[in-house]
Amino acid sequence: MKRVLVTGATGNIGREVIHFLNELNQECEIIAAARDVESAKKEFLGYPSLSFEWFDFENRNSFASAFESIDTLFLLRPPHISEVEKYFQPLLLAAKESGIEEIVFLSVQGVEKSSIIPHNKIEALIRSYGFKYIFVRPGYFMQNLTTTLLAEIRKNHTITLPSGHAKFNWIDIGNIGEATAMLINSFPEYQNAGYDITGTENKDFYQVTYLMSKVIGTEICFNSINPLSFYFKKRNEGVQKGFALVMTMLHFLPRFQEEPEISENFEKLTGKSPTRLVDFIEREKIKMTPAQLDVS
Ligand SMILES: NC(=O)c1ccc[n+]([C@@H]2O[C@H](COP(=O)([O-])OP(=O)(O)OC[C@H]3O[C@@H](n4cnc5c(N)ncnc54)[C@H](OP(=O)(O)O)[C@@H]3O)[C@@H](O)[C@H]2O)c1
Repeated sequence: MKRVLVTGATGNIGREVIHFLNELNQECEIIAAARDVESAKKEFLGYPSLSFEWFDFENRNSFASAFESIDTLFLLRPPHISEVEKYFQPLLLAAKESGIEEIVFLSVQGVEKSSIIPHNKIEALIRSYGFKYIFVRPGYFMQNLTTTLLAEIRKNHTITLPSGHAKFNWIDIGNIGEATAMLINSFPEYQNAGYDITGTENKDFYQVTYLMSKVIGTEICFNSINPLSFYFKKRNEGVQKGFALVMTMLHFLPRFQEEPEISENFEKLTGKSPTRLVDFIEREKIKMTPAQLDVS
């Protein structure tokens, strides 16, 4: 039985990958990698066949035991970890030494065009170590609206980013998890290539806040600020240096790039249409309702 270790199991994508792998499969054993195994167990109470391994990206001592007898590693880069050589080189070496052959890495759409983002360096490392690989390259998560951007939406009815009129491709994390589970399941068919996983809409934040305002029923405004101000705004909010820098780059660089290409990979892999942004906002509008309008 193929053994798949899922890193970032308790996060946006890891949780979805586990959910869809579990739905698809009786033929692979899914192991959730977590730095706090006891609290991870509580998050997956509905998954009796899931097993757990202690794994900490920032503690090399956790690698060998977590990687033992693993066939496929689903790997992501936690947002606060941006030093690729320091964290991913030893991790990949340990994976190699443990005999892991297949890596499915959560990258980002447009990675090929930007050599400075960590995902680009991680993809290069994975290739250079001779793993069989699949790079999952999603667009911009719709769930950013209900996670990293949520506090400002609720408190000030605004979104502040250095992105100007740059367009992002909007994709539901559930769609990414489902496509990734299909790729893991049929690894040999798809190996040694990268797959954009996108929704069908490219929209800038002026368009998105307009749509949000209509669906939520109260005005949400977009403020575009310069990248330096954004970086220091994030630092003042307590965001770690590396994360603040990556957030700045991921929202600023698209201003100088062509708008994202829309891929059909999700439909090809799953036979379904991706979530529309309007449906996502409708589904999640209670969470995004500004604080003083919240009657719950
Ligand atoms: N947001 C976007 O629009 C977007 C688009 C494309 C690609 N991406 C990429 O997606 C990745 C983030 O994925 P995500 O949103 O699923 O992440 P996430 O929701 O922030 O979750 C991060 C996961 O990593 C785990 N983690 C953090 N530090 C750890 C450590 N030291 N050891 C072990 N586990 C640790 C967390 O576990 P705990 O529960 O212990 O904290 C959590 O499970 C990033 O590389 C990002 O660049 C994001």
